[in-house]
Amino acid sequence: MRAIKPHRSCLSVPGSSARMQAKAATLEADQVLFDLEDATAPSEKVGARAVIVESLRTHDFGQRCISVRVNGTDTEWCYRDIVEVVEAAGDRIESLILPKAESSADVHFVDRLIGQIELARGWEVGRIGLEVLIESSRGLQQVDAIASASPRLHALIFGPGDLSASLGLGQLTIGMPDSGYEGDIWHFAFMRLLVAARANGLLAIDGPYAAFADLDGLERSARRTAVLGFDGKWVIHPTQIALVNRAYSPDPAVYARAEGILAAYRQATEGEGRGAVRFEGEMIDEATRKMAEAVARRGRWLGLGGQ
Ligand code: COA
Ligand code: MG
Repeated sequence: MRAIKPHRSCLSVPGSSARMQAKAATLEADQVLFDLEDATAPSEKVGARAVIVESLRTHDFGQRCISVRVNGTDTEWCYRDIVEVVEAAGDRIESLILPKAESSADVHFVDRLIGQIELARGWEVGRIGLEVLIESSRGLQQVDAIASASPRLHALIFGPGDLSASLGLGQLTIGMPDSGYEGDIWHFAFMRLLVAARANGLLAIDGPYAAFADLDGLERSARRTAVLGFDGKWVIHPTQIALVNRAYSPDPAVYARAEGILAAYRQATEGEGRGAVRFEGEMIDEATRKMAEAVARRGRWLGLGGQ
C-alpha cells in the first residue's frame, strides 16, 4: 500500500455549500471530497470553485484526506475546475477525483493538466493524486486501461447511480443493495473494478447509498464490498459516517490472528526449516503467509498493532 491516507468513509460535500464544508471539518470521515460535479447545480458550478478554495484556505481539516471532484472531460467545466482549484489551493489537496472516466485518454488529459500547474507553481510534479469513477458501460469495459494510465492514480471508485443508468438497470435509488435478481446485481462490476485496482496497486472504493435514513440498508450495502476487501465507501450524510468507518475497519481478532500466523510461519521456516506447519488445527504455508501479510498490512495501515 502506498502512502495514501485511509479511505474508509469518503464524505461528499456539495461544492456550493460553504456551510456543509465547514461542518465537514468537524466530522469523522476519513476523506472529505468537495464536489463540483453532480452535487453542484449548473448555475453554481463556476462560483463553487471559489467557495471550495475559501474553505480549503480557512478550515483545518486535520489528518483527513482532502479531495476535489471536478466535472467530467466531456463538459465545459472540467479544465477550469482543475486550473482554478489546483492553482489556488493545490497545496491543500491530496487528490482530484475525475468522474465518468471512459478511457486512458481521459486520465492522461487530467494528469498532464495537473502536471503543468505543478511545474508552473514550482511544486513536486506528481504529488497531487488522482481518483477516478468507473460509472458507465464504457468505463467498466476500459477499466484495465484506465487503472494503468498514470502513476498519479490512487483509487478506482464504483459509481452505482450513473452505472445503473448507463446499463439500463432501471434502479431509482443510488446504491440500493436489494433487487429481484438472484445473486448480487453488482457482483461482476465489483470484481471487475477490484481486479483492475489491485493489479495496479490502487484502492478500491464503493459508491454511496442514497437512502441515508435507512441504516440497515447502508449496512447491507457496505458489507457486500467490505467482504470483498474494498477499502471504503462514499457517504453523503453525517449519519452514515460511523457505520461505514466500522464496516471497513479490520476486525481486531482477525488482525491479531494474521500477526499470529506471520509469527508462527517465521518460526517454522527460519527456526525449523519447514514450509508447512500446523497452526490452530489448520495447515499454514507460504500462501497462508501471503494472505496473513495482506490482512496485517491493512490493519497496520488503519492503525492497529500500534504502528
Ligand atoms: N457534508 C457535510 N455536512 C452535511 C452533509 C454533507 N454531505 N449533509 C448534511 N450535512 C449537515 C448539514 O449541514 C446539517 O448540519 P448543520 O445544521 O450544522 O448545518 C446536518 O448535516 C443535517 O443535515 P440535513 O438537514 O439532514 O440535510 P439536508 O436534508 O439539508 O440535505 C442531502 C440532505 C442528502 C441533500 C445532503 O446531505 C447532501 O447534500 N449530501 C451530499 C450530496 C452529494 O454530495 N451528492 C453527490 C455525491 S453522490
Ligand atoms: Mg456519478
